[in-house]
Amino acid sequence: MQTIKTDFLVIGSGVAGLSYTLKTARALPGHTFTVICKSEPKESNTRYAQGGIAVSLKTEIDSPEKHIKDTLRAGDGLCDKKIVRMVVKEGPEQLRELIKNGVKFDRNRNGKFDLAMEGGHSASRIFHRADFTGLEIERKMLAKVRKMKNVKIMDHASAIDLITNEQIPGKEQNKKSTCYGAYVLLEKKKDVIALLSRITVLATGGVGQVFEHTTNASTATGDGIAMASRAGARIKHMAFIQFHPTALYEKNKSRNFLISEAVRGMGAILRNPDGNSFMEYYDPARDLATRDIVARAIHSELERSFTEFLYLDCRSISKKEFVKHFPTIVARCTTAGIDPSRQMIPVVPSAHYCCGGVSTDQHGRTSLKNLYACGECAETGLHGANRLASNSLLEALVFANRCSVDSVKRIDKIKNPGFVKKYALEYKPLLNEKELERFMSQSKKTMSRGVGLVTNVEKIVGGLKILNEIKKELEKKYGRVIHQKLLTLRNMLDTDLLILEDSVKRRKNAGVFFNENLDFNKINLIEVNKIKEVDNNLVRV
Ligand code: FAD
Ligand code: SIN
Repeated sequence: MQTIKTDFLVIGSGVAGLSYTLKTARALPGHTFTVICKSEPKESNTRYAQGGIAVSLKTEIDSPEKHIKDTLRAGDGLCDKKIVRMVVKEGPEQLRELIKNGVKFDRNRNGKFDLAMEGGHSASRIFHRADFTGLEIERKMLAKVRKMKNVKIMDHASAIDLITNEQIPGKEQNKKSTCYGAYVLLEKKKDVIALLSRITVLATGGVGQVFEHTTNASTATGDGIAMASRAGARIKHMAFIQFHPTALYEKNKSRNFLISEAVRGMGAILRNPDGNSFMEYYDPARDLATRDIVARAIHSELERSFTEFLYLDCRSISKKEFVKHFPTIVARCTTAGIDPSRQMIPVVPSAHYCCGGVSTDQHGRTSLKNLYACGECAETGLHGANRLASNSLLEALVFANRCSVDSVKRIDKIKNPGFVKKYALEYKPLLNEKELERFMSQSKKTMSRGVGLVTNVEKIVGGLKILNEIKKELEKKYGRVIHQKLLTLRNMLDTDLLILEDSVKRRKNAGVFFNENLDFNKINLIEVNKIKEVDNNLVRV
């Protein structure tokens, strides 16, 4: 097995990994950096981000205090207030750095930034580049990182497992307290190597692909969280999976196209199959309530109408404005045969964001020494039980910066171990890929049925049973083999179990987590209000 030494190993090339690398490699030009990514470097959740970045400046209409309040309200009592304050306060500086790095944000006719509105925000504060903000960031950052002489990017290189004390001869065995890099599968060479590093950064993104319907990139299979958990790192809040209310409804897609919340920010409204609006029954903020409320309201309307999708009505927005703000959405709808200026867009909630992850402190340090985590794979305390729209890119930038500052300070005290044990599994071609695909589809279905928008104890326990069985069968049949599809499936199953185990332990509903056994009255209250309203209408008629 080949062993490569690097000072810094960054796992992931989305906004978190690239931003960390750019800052740290500039600060330490004499050190070596290796960035690995599972697919093409650009493929990530970052590249699909539409709405933008929530940053609040002190103006007539907005203030950091208002942003803090909105974030805490969305997080439903489970945010870490100190972290929320810190992230909101550090946002403007990170935004300025992005702009310095060449990232462009839209401006209005007066030359001022064009700030968009999204659900749960009390002011327009979303900096955006039309509806392709993520792609703009990804492209610009990647181009900068590629130019750094001390950075090597390895694509189609999947981290399989983190290297801890257990694999380093002479170190304390059976005590996984320090991280020394990762074993990596080079997909094109079909080979496993060890990347030994002094500092390792997990920036592996989210978990959406463990569900049947998701807005997430193909790379979002929970790898970083699963690896960290196997290595003994502390994982937190995995039950808090956020569903985006409005993904374009299309059958049999591995990724559902997103219809940005900024569209509702411009005045679009949700309608049921009868053409009636309904958000007024669920929240005073109507279509701009926080995501958990809007997504559950849609779920409830879908159940009531026995249909598979509802509608987003954008016809009140001027066609010119719509095309200017949402060119990607217009292009995608056109491909699907929909003209949003004349027809309503069929939408459905879709798994979108993992609010939990690898637990970190305010510097992005995890519970394993020399292992940092930032971006969607980290649980920093910002989101609590529900992420406020467009706070994710903000969190990734602020924490990539914090990880960078802290690791620059610490690197001189950390040594590279130099030698590592061979990885226990070997690359082998798969004899039965169809079987793996079956396991994968079964696990996705189980997750979607088990812990969707509304869950209950029976569903969670049933899910745990099925997924544990799939895991056992996989182990029995493929225990000694390593292969791209297998490692993804193993990580997906470990992620599933982390989500379900956290779900089964929760005694209280909060934010995006809703177990109907715990809060049956809340559903009934909505139903009662609706029936009352219908009765009133009947009386009025
Ligand atoms: P990612 O950008 O997902 O990058 C993960 C990286 O890790 C990839 O390079 C991948 O290849 C790599 N990786 C994964 N596993 C491995 C492995 N085993 N080995 C090696 N590499 C690995 N947030 C906002 O704030 N505003 C928005 O407008 C917004 N819109 C969104 C729209 C969509 C459709 C989606 C899906 C998300 C959106 N989000 C938005 C959320 C936000 O985009 C993500 O949370 C954020 O981009 C995550 O960045 P990241 O760097 O942590 O991960
Ligand atoms: C969107 O544009 O609706 C996505 C914003 C986000 O996920 O924060």
